[in-house]
Amino acid sequence: MNNILLLASGGGSNVRAILDYFKDRNDVNFPMIITNNPKAGVIEVAKEYGVDVLLLNKRIFQEELFIDTIDIYKPHLIVLAGFLWKIPDYMVKGYANKMINIHPALLPNYGGVGMYGHHVHEAVIAANEKESGITVHVVNEHYDEGTVLLQKKVKIAKGETPETLADKVLKLEHTWYSKVIDSLLTTE
Ligand code: GAR
Repeated sequence: MNNILLLASGGGSNVRAILDYFKDRNDVNFPMIITNNPKAGVIEVAKEYGVDVLLLNKRIFQEELFIDTIDIYKPHLIVLAGFLWKIPDYMVKGYANKMINIHPALLPNYGGVGMYGHHVHEAVIAANEKESGITVHVVNEHYDEGTVLLQKKVKIAKGETPETLADKVLKLEHTWYSKVIDSLLTTE
């Protein structure tokens, strides 16, 4: 059985796409969605799919002992889907190569502290880029810097706005993130 822990801070459209992709699979289980944001749309998504939610307290998240809570779920994979807090080192070490993230740009460009959600798309448009895209990568101790597992590009049209670009990029995320996750699962 592949237990997948999802961490999300926002609307949860990626979480929805992932839960949808795996809904008929009996080798995959989502024991818990962890969020830092009591107002996150992802909480409604979790309810819809009958997945439990753990609301995180920042101080507890920083505590090394929190790994015991994570370990309870025996995650094969920890998947960040729009999760905005930095992952503490104890967790990166404890789940080395077992934690992945999706970023709404072509890393190493437009990554790092402060580069999330609409900030990314605004920066890409302001720089007159011809293309943007998505990056799925392994999480290491530096923001947005782990080994890249997949990148997909979109062309930026004339008159593109951060909002229209965000829509295009999200569509790509919804198509590809689950496929990458699937490729990392075990058949045991
Ligand atoms: C997604 O575009 C994801 O790539 C981005 O947040 C959005 C979450 O949307 N993540 C980052 O910017 C991380 N640096 P969602 O809540 O609808 O899935």
